[in-house]
Amino acid sequence: MIKKNVLVIGGSGFIGAEICNTLSKTENVICADNYSRNEQKINISSNVSHEELDITDFNKVSLICKNMDVVINLAFINGTRNFYERPRDVFKVALEGQLNVMRAIDDNNVKRFIYASSSEVYQTPEIVPTSEKVKLVIPDIMNPRYSYGGGKIVGELMCVHYLPKRVPYQIFRPHNIYGPNMGFEHVIPEFIKKIYQSKENLNNKFPIKVQGGGLSSRSFCYLKDFGRAFRIMWEKGGENQIYNIGTDKEVKILEILNILSRITNKEFDLIEEDLPLGSTERRCPDISKLKKLGYSPIYSLEEGLQKTHDWYLNYL
Ligand SMILES: NC(=O)c1ccc[n+]([C@@H]2O[C@H](COP(=O)([O-])OP(=O)(O)OC[C@H]3O[C@@H](n4cnc5c(N)ncnc54)[C@H](O)[C@@H]3O)[C@@H](O)[C@H]2O)c1
Repeated sequence: MIKKNVLVIGGSGFIGAEICNTLSKTENVICADNYSRNEQKINISSNVSHEELDITDFNKVSLICKNMDVVINLAFINGTRNFYERPRDVFKVALEGQLNVMRAIDDNNVKRFIYASSSEVYQTPEIVPTSEKVKLVIPDIMNPRYSYGGGKIVGELMCVHYLPKRVPYQIFRPHNIYGPNMGFEHVIPEFIKKIYQSKENLNNKFPIKVQGGGLSSRSFCYLKDFGRAFRIMWEKGGENQIYNIGTDKEVKILEILNILSRITNKEFDLIEEDLPLGSTERRCPDISKLKKLGYSPIYSLEEGLQKTHDWYLNYL
């Protein structure tokens, strides 16, 4: 089989690296990134080539898209704090970036496009588990948090209505992917860090701050399951389709702490903090569309958390 030339923009990030690795087994993969994350290219296979790229620079994006068969756009400014504090930067990368990529695809005759959206497009979904057909929502345009979800919704709209019709697209909506090297701006690495920074109190417990008392729920999907899901979408997914990627096991955030308590052999004193404005109580994807293609998650939360914990412990 002739290998395709695949450009993964934002490919050095947490899930980008997994996508580069899985695709580099069968295709020529170029990772293009500004390396604001994962400067040292940790966990990226040596089969992957690298190009420094700022997605907001159209000329560079266009040059890099030359001779590409497939372009995948994952570049985004992530991390909840950034949504609240840097909404303009979030939009710049989200929208100028997406526009540049689509214009470059048009100019260079690229044959396929894949876009990383997010579970945040559902915000507080009307139906849980949430299928791809549930409506996308921006509840309050005054809240800077929705720079992220809003950027993703417009990114999706552009796939459907702006990308040249000759180019088939796939949109995937990841739901709480976790694993080694995911940064520190997410709940699991934040907990691991807090656990090891916390000092034992007089009750022999470790005080840990938890937003909303840990009663919100999410579905956590280990990185390797994400990689398999992506591969299945790549090989068997339909043209112009949207896929949720994740697991359909919904757990309270407290459950994460219970498992981490067993892994670290520490007991916690939980200190309740307010949830940030606009955060959501429940999220769990309906993944039946992906299951019909042959996907089912393999890793249990215990296994995935053990691996993630071990990686961070070593890293810290
Ligand atoms: N990890 C998850 O659970 C999750 C959930 C929902 C959506 N997503 C989406 O999936 C994609 C990848 O997520 P991730 O967890 O790997 O995040 P990440 O932050 O690790 O990866 C994003 C990548 O984009 C790059 N980037 C940022 N600005 C750039 C710019 N101006 N030019 C070029 N590259 C730039 C970063 O350096 C980074 O490598 C993102 O679009 C994210 O919004 C991820």
